[in-house]
Amino acid sequence: MERLQKIIANNGFTSRRKAEELIKAGKVKVNGKIITELGTKVDANDQIEINGTYLEKNEKKVYFLLNKPRHYLSSVSDNLNRPTVVSLIDTKERIYPIGRLDYDTTGLLLLTNDGKLANYLMHPKNEIEKTYIAKIEGVLTPSEFYQLKKGIIIGNRKVIPKYLKVCKTASNKAYQIIEITIIEGRNHIIKKIFTELKHPVLKLKRESYSFLSLGNLKSGEYRMLTIKEVKKLYSLK
Ligand code: URA
Repeated sequence: MERLQKIIANNGFTSRRKAEELIKAGKVKVNGKIITELGTKVDANDQIEINGTYLEKNEKKVYFLLNKPRHYLSSVSDNLNRPTVVSLIDTKERIYPIGRLDYDTTGLLLLTNDGKLANYLMHPKNEIEKTYIAKIEGVLTPSEFYQLKKGIIIGNRKVIPKYLKVCKTASNKAYQIIEITIIEGRNHIIKKIFTELKHPVLKLKRESYSFLSLGNLKSGEYRMLTIKEVKKLYSLK
């Protein structure tokens, strides 16, 4: 066990003095929890996040693709003791999800202990395409569909889908199933888009993440990524 600021400084992330400032400013998380106490001791296995960037560790790197079930939290731990996605995976390594799916969203989620890859994939400049299947309340009118296709402004930024398709319309028009591909990574972004259009999302599933898809994985099942897939993720634009 060592002091948090020492581990951060030894890692080469920044100086010990800067590390102390970051801790005091509430910018440092250990295993998902903000730590502001300067003397806090952590061990080499703890997952340290500074300003949203994971600290690299010297350990065997592992990579999992999970079909996340509903009612699992996309995090390492939870104050309310709700089940987390990490608990579904049998590994000794300290893994964490790459990005988030909401508690009630299902589908493809990557988990790893490779901070470099996680940071790389979560950076907006990498424009990773994510495809979702959304069940929405009611039916989009042709003009709403066109509006969505052209882009919807969410919090001052326009989200333009890369791909958009109506997969199914309920005969009583109670709901519609939409396939939508976006490169955006903001939290709850799909729900915000459809809320903006006054068609709230009833169910949401992520089908694919870049070239990776769920394949035959059932809810709660997972597999390890192949070396080839990891290399391909690293080589994405
Ligand atoms: N958009 C959402 O609204 N929720 C998710 O879980 C993922 C994308």
